[in-house]
Amino acid sequence: MFPKTLLSTLLLALAVSANPVLVDKAPVTLGLTRRLNLTSVHNLVRHDQTRAQKLKAFGGVSTDAVINEPVDNQAVTYFADVTVGNPGTHYSLLIDTGSSNTWLGANKAYAKTSTSKATSNKVSVTYGSGSFSGTEYTDQVSLGSGLTIPSQSIGVASKSSGFDGIDGILGIGPVDLTQGTLSPATSSTIPTVTDNLYNLGIITSNAIGISYAPTTSEEVENGELSWGGVDSSKYTGSITYVPITSTSPASFYWGINQSIKYGTSTTILSNTAGIVDTGTTLILLATDAYKKYVAATGAVLDNTTGLLKISTTQYSKLQSLFFTIGGTSFELTANAQIWPRSLNADIGGTSGSIYLVVADLGSNSGEGLDFINGYTFLERFYSVYDTSNKRVGIANTPNTQATSN
Ligand SMILES: *[C@@H]1O[C@H](CO)[C@@H](O)[C@H](O)[C@H]1NC(C)=O
Ligand SMILES: *[C@@H]1O[C@H](CO)[C@@H](O)[C@H](O)[C@H]1NC(C)=O
Ligand SMILES: *[C@@H]1O[C@H](CO)[C@@H](O)[C@H](O)[C@H]1NC(C)=O
Repeated sequence: MFPKTLLSTLLLALAVSANPVLVDKAPVTLGLTRRLNLTSVHNLVRHDQTRAQKLKAFGGVSTDAVINEPVDNQAVTYFADVTVGNPGTHYSLLIDTGSSNTWLGANKAYAKTSTSKATSNKVSVTYGSGSFSGTEYTDQVSLGSGLTIPSQSIGVASKSSGFDGIDGILGIGPVDLTQGTLSPATSSTIPTVTDNLYNLGIITSNAIGISYAPTTSEEVENGELSWGGVDSSKYTGSITYVPITSTSPASFYWGINQSIKYGTSTTILSNTAGIVDTGTTLILLATDAYKKYVAATGAVLDNTTGLLKISTTQYSKLQSLFFTIGGTSFELTANAQIWPRSLNADIGGTSGSIYLVVADLGSNSGEGLDFINGYTFLERFYSVYDTSNKRVGIANTPNTQATSN
């Protein structure tokens, strides 16, 4: 399903370029590489909806919520090069703000060294797409220059599904999501990589900044994760911070309150709770809000891709979506609402067609998690995940108004 040239472009992009750039004195950064690997036609939408369902069931945490959906491989991933052990082995770990366990062994086998210590705990996590189970170890984990954790708790998978082509996950969600993942059960949580960097004094603030950029087939640009604060070269203006929402289950994640308008006057979603999530590709809206968006845009559901589709005439009239977060209005332009046309073939679409990245969450609003601002949102805005201050930050970037798609 990949055109050959595109596939090779995407494969080239797999080479991780970790360019640690130190900005001022504060955060230490790690390069992120984007991989697009859509292997079946409805993969993208179904993958995101299944993840949403699992997150709403307070998933990622408990194995109670069994979702009877086919396991899809991760469709679009941002991953980083992480070194474990001494001497170190490199692993490609998916960056996930919606889960908090760090683990490896899905693809490349765990190489034990003098720093590896098995614990007596088994570990297992079920995700919207895929799962893993294995043994909890502690080991030395290096995230780039200056970021070495001598004893990080990590899962080593003996079984995993849904993670072809990547080695595991670097979970950077709230630490409470690790609760219940160990057996015998413990009431304690497993400190995340960010928690340990902070506790060791390696970073001075328990916070992460993430910069993504829109990508096309010709060149896949890297994102950047900065530990310990924000990289001021990656955003414009000031960062709007909002407290983590008090509404459950969004409150278990990087949950925020927001409202959405189409153009200046059409309300799509009244102020409600949802999450910001790097593990979701699309922008998902609760079904009732999604229907308002469909009515406002005149889009039709395309049976081949599973995405909404509009004509070129409709596109020329497509208005911005305005996301109001913490009193600031963030503009998601018409161009930001469409799937990059140069990547239409990857989603089973036809060249020249225009597909939208706004999709149906799969359940109505009022259930405590009414939207997911996934990576198609995050490639237009800088985001900050601040554990110390229990808040999320959003800012404009030079890509907010880009017409890359
Ligand atoms: C893409 O996904 C397929 C199916 O899950 C997998 O076999 C393949 O290794 C993946 N390719 C890359 C480059 O990750
Ligand atoms: C978010 O919205 C809910 C109601 O939807 C409200 O109860 C809450 O106070 C708001 N703010 C925060 C920070 O949760
Ligand atoms: C998509 O499929 C459904 C049923 O399979 C059909 O009712 C609908 O007309 C189709 N839509 C388009 C745009 O082809």
